[in-house]
Amino acid sequence: MELSKKVGKAELNYDGKVYPFDVMEGTEKERAIDMRALRKETGAISFDPGYANTGSCHSEVTFIDGEKGILRYRGYAIEDLAVNCTFIEVAYLLVHGTLPTQSQLSKYSRLLNRHSLIHEDMRNFFENYPEHAHPMAILSAMVVSLSSFYPELDSSSSEEELDLTVARLLSKMRTLAAFSYKQSVGEPHVYPSSKLTYVENFLNMMFYTPVANYEITPVLVRAMNKLLILHADHEQNCSTSTVRMVGSAGANLYASIAAGICALWGPLHGGANQAVIEMLEYIHKEGSGVEEMVKRAKDPDDSFRLMGFGHRVYKAYDPRARIAKTSCEEVLNQLGIEDPLLGIAMELEEKALNDPYFKERNLYPNVDFYTGITLRAMGFPMNMFTVIFALGRLPGWVAHWLELKNDPDKRIGRPRQVYTGPVHREFVPIEKRG
Ligand code: SDX
Repeated sequence: MELSKKVGKAELNYDGKVYPFDVMEGTEKERAIDMRALRKETGAISFDPGYANTGSCHSEVTFIDGEKGILRYRGYAIEDLAVNCTFIEVAYLLVHGTLPTQSQLSKYSRLLNRHSLIHEDMRNFFENYPEHAHPMAILSAMVVSLSSFYPELDSSSSEEELDLTVARLLSKMRTLAAFSYKQSVGEPHVYPSSKLTYVENFLNMMFYTPVANYEITPVLVRAMNKLLILHADHEQNCSTSTVRMVGSAGANLYASIAAGICALWGPLHGGANQAVIEMLEYIHKEGSGVEEMVKRAKDPDDSFRLMGFGHRVYKAYDPRARIAKTSCEEVLNQLGIEDPLLGIAMELEEKALNDPYFKERNLYPNVDFYTGITLRAMGFPMNMFTVIFALGRLPGWVAHWLELKNDPDKRIGRPRQVYTGPVHREFVPIEKRG
C-alpha cells in the first residue's frame, strides 16, 4: 500500500548510466525522491550527516513548513490548539488522530487519574539518588523501570490495553517528574488527587508542602497547559527519531521513551531552555553581555551558540516562540513579576534579528527562547525545565512509536557510513609490536 503519491521520476546520472528514481509527494505537496533502491541499483549510498535532507518515514502526526513558520498537529494549527485546548485534549489528538468529544475526554481524564500513582516500591528508588542528581537522569531511569512493574504492549494488545498503557505512561511520568523534584529538595512527595486535572495535579505535586499551602491559580494552569501543548510534538526531531530508532528494534514503549528522554536532555535540543536562562543570567550579571553574546555567537572560532536561536527546520520565526513570548508577558504581568531577563531576551532578539549574520542564516528565536522565563516565574527550578519539555513531548513520542509499529514500510533503523579508516593490515602478534 503506497502511503504517498508517485508524481514523476528523478534521474541520477552516475558512472556513465542514468538511474531513474520515483518522486513521492505528501499531502502538503512536499516532494521526496525515493532512494530505497539506490545502493542496489548503483552500488553507492547517499551521504547526509544529521539527516538534514533525508526523510526517515511517512507520518500523519505533525506537519511543519519551516519556511512559512507553520506547525500543525494532525492538521490543526498550533495557534488554535494552544489557545483553545487543554494539554490532555491535545495528547488525545496526537495519540488517537482526532480531537476527543467531551465524553471521550472525560473518560480519558478519569483513566489518567486512575493510573496516576506509581508502585510504592518505585518510591524507594528515589532515596538512592544523590541530592544533586539531575531530574532528567532520574526520569529516564524511572520510565524504563516502569516496564518491570507494568505489562508491555505486544502485537496482540487490544485497543483498551493500548489506551491503558499510554494513559499509565502519560500519568505516571508526570508523577515521577514531581517526585524527582521533591526528592531533590528534600521535601515529602505529594500524591496526585482524583479531584484535580492533569496540570492542576502537576502544579500541586510540585509546589504544595504541608506547611505552605499552594494555591493553584487559573493563570498558572492556563500557562502550563499552553507550554505543554507547544512542546507536544515536532515531527522527526532528534528525540522523536531516537524513540523511533529504539522502537524499530522491537524495544518496548517504556524503553523507547526513556531513550527519547536521554536525547532530549542534550543542550542543543530540549536542554536549550535551561541553557537560555544560564545565558541570560550571565548577561544580566556581566551587564555588557548582549553585545558580547552576539559577537561570540558570530565568531566562527567560538563554539558558543546563541541559545534558543536557530532551528534545523524553521527558517522563519518558530510559531511556538511567538506564542511562548506572548504567554510569558501575560504570566509575568498577571503574577506581577518584573524579571530583568525578559527585557534582556527581547533586547537580544531585537539585536540578533537585525544583524546580517543571523538574517543571512535565517536564525530566529525557537521554542526554547522564552519558555524558561515563564517557567522561572511559575517557580520551577532550572533543572526541571527540560523535564517539563519531556512531559509535553511524551504524547508526540507515543504517537510516533505507535505509528512506527503500524507502518507497512517499517524496518530496523540502520544507517550506512563512508569508511575512512585504515585499509587491511596484516596482524602483528604482541611480542613483535612496539
Ligand atoms: C529544539 O528539531 C526540532 O524540531 C527540535 C525542537 C523540537 O521541538 O523538538 O524544535 C526543539 O531542539 C530547538 C533548538 C534548541 N537548541 C538551541 O537553541 C541551541 C542553539 N541552536 C543551534 O545549536 C542550532 O541552531 C540547532 C542545533 C538548533 C540547529 O542546528 P543545525 O540545523 O545543524 O544548524 P547549523 O549548525 O548547520 O547552522 C547553520 C549555520 C552555521 O553557521 P555557518 O557554518 O553557516 O557559518 O547557522 C549557524 C551555524 O554556526 N547557527 C548559529 C546558531 N544556530 C545556527 N550561530 C549562532 N547561534 C546559533 N544559535
